[in-house]
Amino acid sequence: MCYVSRASSITYAPIVQSGHVQRQRVVDRYEDCQFSHNIMYQEFQAGSQTTVRLMIPDMPNASEIGRWLEQIDFNRHYTNFGPLVTELETRIEGRLRAESLELLPGASRVVTASSGTAALELAITARRLRPCAKVALPAFTFPATATAVIRSGAVPVFVDVDPDSWCLTPEIALDVLEYTDVDLVIPVAAFGRPLPAADWDRFAEGTGIPVIMDAASAFGSQVLGRVCVTVFSLHATKAMSSGEGGLVAACSDTFIHETRQLSNFGFSAPRRVGSPGLNGKLSEYHAAVGLAQLERFGEVRERRARVYAHYAERLSQLDGRVALQHTETEFVRSVLPVAVLGMGGAERLEVGLQGEKIETRRWYCPPLNEHRAFLGMQCAGRDGSSDLPVTTSLSEQILGLPFHSFLSEFEIARVCSLVEKHHGSPRAFSMQGGAA
Ligand SMILES: Cc1ncc(COP(=O)(O)O)c(C=O)c1O
Repeated sequence: MCYVSRASSITYAPIVQSGHVQRQRVVDRYEDCQFSHNIMYQEFQAGSQTTVRLMIPDMPNASEIGRWLEQIDFNRHYTNFGPLVTELETRIEGRLRAESLELLPGASRVVTASSGTAALELAITARRLRPCAKVALPAFTFPATATAVIRSGAVPVFVDVDPDSWCLTPEIALDVLEYTDVDLVIPVAAFGRPLPAADWDRFAEGTGIPVIMDAASAFGSQVLGRVCVTVFSLHATKAMSSGEGGLVAACSDTFIHETRQLSNFGFSAPRRVGSPGLNGKLSEYHAAVGLAQLERFGEVRERRARVYAHYAERLSQLDGRVALQHTETEFVRSVLPVAVLGMGGAERLEVGLQGEKIETRRWYCPPLNEHRAFLGMQCAGRDGSSDLPVTTSLSEQILGLPFHSFLSEFEIARVCSLVEKHHGSPRAFSMQGGAA
């Protein structure tokens, strides 16, 4: 048997050594970094026999980061807003400004942070809310959104999401406001699907309630608002990454200036703390990784788009049995969640796929309102009750399938045929539409 990677033209010939089947690599060409990434992945897959991994970060390698590290050696500046952090912020500002051109007559500004969670906490704190202010956020999100609210002295109010986009919409927030006062709204760009920034600007201006968009996974897709603040994560699982890191972006110089001070313990002048902050700064080493990744972001984006296109084609052949997140415009994906309707939902399919060595993840199950950390906190339904029906059903239906840059067409086909095998009845799935 011979294994040929179509993407990279690497040939693997099996050899038997100490009773184990190993694959010897025959490399036709070894030119670019992507090629070396492919080789590393193929070797990894060969070593793990048949397991298809859920996520594998697509990060710069040592030689790509090297030239930035040499600058650190030269500068002898390791953290505290050094030249590499400044360079990363400047490049990202330029990029975000170009992407958000139609929306942003003014200048956008960016401050980096040590993580997406720290960036959220800093942005909420910089909003200067009253003590125990109420913050509306979807119950269908990653726990960090709620954790940041609590750590900044506010109180979460869990609200529902839209059944198609899986995001909190301005319409849902307006319904909730009929019954509950809130001081801040944090919509989440679920799984990287960008939020409608112009609509959230209108919401903020119309209601007077500030909005912070948690766009943790949406770098490269999320445009900025004029009045909304946007937060991104630069975690290794995201398409744009510095290993660990985060960003706060806004059109207000004052807001960004205050956020930066808060990220530096709250120092507002030498030896003077204006208000209590945290050490939430990005180090120069992380900025080096971020700068290297920014240079290859276009390739990462293309690889992910290619993998998604293969999936979309295969999933569409499943006879209307898969529900994908609805979106009007395509976006940079970090994960691939599908909604599994009926017949035991995501749980049953997950068990079937586990038996076939296909890694999966239940996002977000349980929803936040069912975590011990958040029990007893207010849930505010659209109808004035505490019911969050869409959140409840999505948490039972959504299953993350393997998704990363290095998946081959063969692996995608295998995953999709195993989905069909373990959830084969056409009635088991329901297509919810979307620009798949
Ligand atoms: C919606 C959301 N918010 C916040 C975060 C936290 O980001 P970080 O891991 O960079 O702290 C994540 C992480 O994935 C997330 O998905």
